[in-house]
Parts: sequence; C-alpha cells; structure tokens
Amino acid sequence: MAHVIIKGIGSHVPDCILSNADLEHRVDTTNEWIVGRTGIESRRICLDTETTSDLGYEAAQKALKHAHISSCDVDLIIVATVTPDMQFPATACIIQEKLKCTDIPCFDINSACSGFIYAIDIARNFLLNNPMMKNVLVIGTEKMSSIVDWEDRATCVLFGDGAGAVVLSRDTDRDSEAGIIDVLIGADGHCASMLCCPGWGAAIPVNVENVKKREYFIKMEGREVFKEAIKRMCAVVEDILLRNHLTIDDVACVIPHQANMRIIGAITDRLGIPSPKMYVNLQHRGNTSAASIPIAIDEALQQGYIGPGDLVLTVAFGAGMTWGAALIRWK
Ligand code: UT7
Repeated sequence: MAHVIIKGIGSHVPDCILSNADLEHRVDTTNEWIVGRTGIESRRICLDTETTSDLGYEAAQKALKHAHISSCDVDLIIVATVTPDMQFPATACIIQEKLKCTDIPCFDINSACSGFIYAIDIARNFLLNNPMMKNVLVIGTEKMSSIVDWEDRATCVLFGDGAGAVVLSRDTDRDSEAGIIDVLIGADGHCASMLCCPGWGAAIPVNVENVKKREYFIKMEGREVFKEAIKRMCAVVEDILLRNHLTIDDVACVIPHQANMRIIGAITDRLGIPSPKMYVNLQHRGNTSAASIPIAIDEALQQGYIGPGDLVLTVAFGAGMTWGAALIRWK
C-alpha cells in the first residue's frame, strides 16, 4: 500500500517576545498566576505589519528547503487558520502568490486548534486518491494576537503567534513502513459557543455597536473548555491506538496541542504516558492554535526528541469543538 510521508517540515515565529511581566503592565495579572495555571512564561507576537500569510510563507519556505523541492513542485496548498489575512480570498492563495507557484488549487480550512490534523488528513486523501498530485503543502499559521481581547485577562495571557508547515508526499519506497499511519478526527458543534470569536462572520454584522461590545475578539468559557479538552483528547488517543492495535509503549514521542500545561499533565496521567515522551514547548510559544502542532513537531525534531523510525502520536483539541489525532512513523 502507498504511504504518505512528511518529506519536509519548517516553522517560524515572530521575533517580538511578550513576557508575563509585560502582561502584568497591561491587565490585572501576575507571572505566578499565568505560570501556575497555564505553564506559559512568554509568547511570540507579530508586529502590526506582520500577517498570518507572512508567518505561513516563512514556515513554508523552510519546509520546502527541508524537503529538497522547489515551490514549483507543489501541487496543492492547504492552510489551517482561524486568523486568515482577510475574510476572502483564502490565505492559501496569498501564500501561493508569495511562493510563486501558480495555477495549483489552494484553500483554507477552519478547525481551530485541531486544524493542522484535519488538514493533513485532507492532504493525505488527496495524495492517495489523485495520482496527479505528488507534493501537498500543509501550513498551520496564526496571528492570534489580532483576535485576542487585550483587556480580557482570562484569555490574553494564553495565545501566541506563529506558523508551521509540512510537505506531504507519496513515498516511492514501497517497502518502507514510514509515513502517516492513521488520522482520526471528530467534532461536537453542541459546544460551539464555549470558545468562539463571534464577530467577523455573517451572524454579527460589522457596526459600531458590535465593536463596542468587543464581538471581534476571542470569547472562552475556560473551565468548560478545559474539561472537554482532557476528555476528548484522552478518548481520541485511546481510539486511534486501539484501532491500530498499538499501545502507548509503542509510541516514542507524543506531541499534544500546546494550550495549557495542566491539560497536558492530566492527559499524561490519565493515559499513563511516561513524562519524557510528552513534548512541551508552550512555555515560550503559548497557544498558537492551528500552528501549535507543526511548530511543536519541528522543534521536537530539531531538539532530538524524534528520530528515524520513531512512532509519533500527535493530538489536538480546539474550538468547534473539534479534535483529532495522527499516528506518524518518522521517515
Ligand atoms: O486551544 C483551545 C483550547 N483552549 C484551552 O484549552 C484553554 C482551556 N482553559 C484553560 O486553560 C483554563 O481554564 C484557563 C487557563 C483559561 C483558566 O484557568 P482556571 O484554573 O480554569 O481559572 P478560572 O477561569 O476558573 O479562574 C480562576 C480565577 C478567577 O478568579 P475568582 O473568580 O476565583 O476570584 C479568575 O477571575 O482566576 C482569575 N483569573 C486570573 N487571575 C489572574 C483569570 N485569569 C486571570 C489572570 N490573572 N490572567
């Protein structure tokens, strides 16, 4: 059976660091509260002039270089984001223009923090079902700082900006066991209002009243989201391992969505995952939504947490509610 592999990976974060000490000057919070409740110490934030497509473009360039291919070899671009440059056109088209790869299909998906896992599932299906496609560029990119309410201490301390990208390709080595082994995704729209950005869409028109009501910023019922995140991520990990006849002992490295250290700790305990297998970078990245998983995979790779032949399990949870897990045997 043909395999789809991660042929190249790259990530990019803005230069500007926003520390907890900086946030103490903006809202009624403390470094102790933020570190104790979330594990986050600092996050990267875009300048006003930097955009979601700029971040995605930088990450894509690195992924193409790592894959040893040029942008002309890309057959499809999928961007996962909740902070597109514009309502339309798709940020994927804007990145396509920056990469100078013309006439290929490009589209965005919005599955919030689970977006990258959704996108690799879509890309994998394109590659397995369309022999004309050889390389798909999947990018998770977010400028969360553009939708964060900087007056809401409960949410503004959580998020950061950044991008990660992978080149997915069909493996020509038929004997190899490397590649994306399985992806499992799900959603529960019943919980949609728990975590949302109500403005920007057709439901809430742009007018002064709605701007005053701060409808264009993230709203979150933190405690409820917290509980759902643990429940759904544990369940999807158990399901994907079970249906592949694997246990956590077979997994070399777990890359969870980087939202909250206490959520990651609860999953680690409930699933009996040895702590050293759990990769965490949220201390200095914060929650970068759809960019969180590809940034974490790239940084884990660079820091030697992932090696050839390793089985990597990645799991995410986000607004929707959406969730997903992927099992990847590293090439
Ligand atoms: O990526 C998508 C998924 N998103 C998430 O996974 C986020 C999930 N939720 C969380 O991570 C946590 O719920 C938070 C970190 C957002 C909040 O932690 P918590 O332990 O659930 O705190 P809480 O919301 O129950 O608030 C506890 C107290 C409240 O004060 P009172 O009512 O007890 O007096 C808050 O007003 O902490 C207060 N508080 C703060 N205090 C200082 C809330 N935010 C802050 C803050 N600094 N930044």
